[in-house]
Amino acid sequence: MAKPIGIFDSGLGGLTVARAISGSVPGEDLVYLGDTARVPYGTRSAKTVVRYAIACAERLLSFDIKLLVVACNTASGVALGELQQRLDIPVVGVIQPGARAGVQATRTGRIGILATSGTVASGAYERAILAENQSMNVFARPAPLFVPLAEEGWVTGDVPRLAARRYLQPLVEVDVDTIVLGCTHYPLLSETIHEVAAELLGHDVTIVDSAQATASALTEILDLPLSRERAAGSLEILVTDLPGQFGAAASRFLGKPIEGLNIQVIDL
Ligand code: DGL
Repeated sequence: MAKPIGIFDSGLGGLTVARAISGSVPGEDLVYLGDTARVPYGTRSAKTVVRYAIACAERLLSFDIKLLVVACNTASGVALGELQQRLDIPVVGVIQPGARAGVQATRTGRIGILATSGTVASGAYERAILAENQSMNVFARPAPLFVPLAEEGWVTGDVPRLAARRYLQPLVEVDVDTIVLGCTHYPLLSETIHEVAAELLGHDVTIVDSAQATASALTEILDLPLSRERAAGSLEILVTDLPGQFGAAASRFLGKPIEGLNIQVIDL
């Protein structure tokens, strides 16, 4: 039997990554772990996030996964090296693929990053972008309110536009031409971020979705001819808590109803 791909995130936002992965490698079976009991990771210390990330990875190993995707940008920023050292399967984070896509997209070499406070503090996007191309100028800014707005499904209209104006202002001042969405939740606000950024900048801007970039990167790692032989992969969802609004939030991030999916509540 083919082994599944393990994916974990601090909560449900990483379903944007699972969705992108099932789009680019549809034959793969996915086991998704959302640490809904301990979300958010983005405001916690690096030490705590590393501890949580190890617990998530270890649980997914018990599903005999062939590859681990760290869908959470914050965990990718602070725990990827530790996980790669501990695990003897490939461990892929979302930051390097997002950084590479940003470098490929920019024409002026001025790249903005929007992410959680934890990801910004880790400096991981700057390192990854400069490792791709030393001549890049990188400007990373936290955009914490985008997380609850995406969870609430409040992704268009006055309120998200106001938040976007505030968070984009520092990136407008340095005239970026590319913005990497360095958080699982932000792809839901992509349209609003794009519109407001273009309005404030007075020119178009390229929005890079690190979830999509990671999914594309996986096609290079996986054995595609084999994967394509199979029609559609399965998705199993594990969560550490089942909050009241689970169904609505999960289907928003996944982009489709969750009815019929195998969902289990686990303890870590
Ligand atoms: N999953 C987190 C990330 O991508 C966002 C939510 C959180 O702070 O846990 O950074």
